[in-house]
Amino acid sequence: MDTKSTILVTGGAGYIGSHAVLALQESGYNVIILDNLSEGHPDLVKDVLQVELIVGDTNDRLILDEIFARHDIAAVMHFAAYVAVGESVTNPDRYYRNNVVGTLTLLEAMIAANVKKFVFSSTCAIYGISQQIPMMENYPQDPLSPYAVSKAMIERILQDFDKAYNLRYVAFRYFNASGANPQGRLGEDHHPETHLIPLALLTALKIQKSLSIFGVDYDTPDGTAIRDYIHVDDLASAHVLGLGYLLDGGKSDVFNLGNGNGFSVHEVIETVKKVTQIDFPVQERDRRPGDPPILVGSSQKARNTLGWKPKYSDLETIVNHAWYWHQKRHGNMDK
Ligand SMILES: NC(=O)c1ccc[n+]([C@@H]2O[C@H](COP(=O)([O-])OP(=O)(O)OC[C@H]3O[C@@H](n4cnc5c(N)ncnc54)[C@H](O)[C@@H]3O)[C@@H](O)[C@H]2O)c1
Repeated sequence: MDTKSTILVTGGAGYIGSHAVLALQESGYNVIILDNLSEGHPDLVKDVLQVELIVGDTNDRLILDEIFARHDIAAVMHFAAYVAVGESVTNPDRYYRNNVVGTLTLLEAMIAANVKKFVFSSTCAIYGISQQIPMMENYPQDPLSPYAVSKAMIERILQDFDKAYNLRYVAFRYFNASGANPQGRLGEDHHPETHLIPLALLTALKIQKSLSIFGVDYDTPDGTAIRDYIHVDDLASAHVLGLGYLLDGGKSDVFNLGNGNGFSVHEVIETVKKVTQIDFPVQERDRRPGDPPILVGSSQKARNTLGWKPKYSDLETIVNHAWYWHQKRHGNMDK
């Protein structure tokens, strides 16, 4: 690996992006972050990551051209996106503009600057409701929300850019990102929060009153939906491997990133109660439209091709790391 390569990380002030920046630094890369701070945490960039943060938007071609002119960028890791599936249903324009047009603008600026390595944050949501579990990369796609469609559209655009402009990309389809930096330096802090583990931890901390379970009548062993929780540090290590693969001349490809183990909503809540040793109220509600009963992915391809070995597949460890971070972030513990 060229230890001096500079990587532009869009959305690097956000949850997954910040963990990837730390992993890139630990692997010897120089990093520049572009983030519009619509989410994301500049305090963590300043205090923990200590890299250059350019506050700007992927829709802003002038900023992009300036970044590529000023720096010798070897590759782009693109995390910047709006991420709330439910909101994308009520505000699709916002999602298509940011996630599709913003990414297209970035890709155009890259091609103009002759930067042709791209690591993209895609999602398992592009599969929709799969009949076969675990899901494989070649399964049919049926994205159910504008958010998921926006990711599928970019995957398609990437195929065309590869053919036309020799852009080489790795698209990672994440399952449920979870956990936090094991030392509590970084973690998940979305506003509003929509993910189960942080919501349960915020309920344990009494920052939110109760926790909702959406659907208790699924055809699963305990009636609640089953998801594949993948530790954010394992996502980060996959990104470093994917980048190395591209810089070594690897061809464009798509990889699932999941744990391979499914955990039900009940199991997650019980684990949170066990780890925190705090009981909290839970409300059972109707299923949400479009929520599949089971989403579990096979990541065999990433293991075989990239040599990826996830370190934290055990749910209790994932929750433990997230709990440590949440206590520090929300003042239950010395920072
Ligand atoms: N969290 C998950 O479970 C999950 C699952 C699948 C895919 N993903 C994808 O991973 C990526 C990161 O997700 P996250 O959970 O870290 O989200 P996040 O909201 O914490 O991070 C996204 C970051 O991008 C920034 N941003 C958004 N639009 C921007 C723009 N136009 N220009 C510059 N910066 C912009 C935000 O300020 C934020 O810091 C997203 O692309 C998301 O779709 C996340």
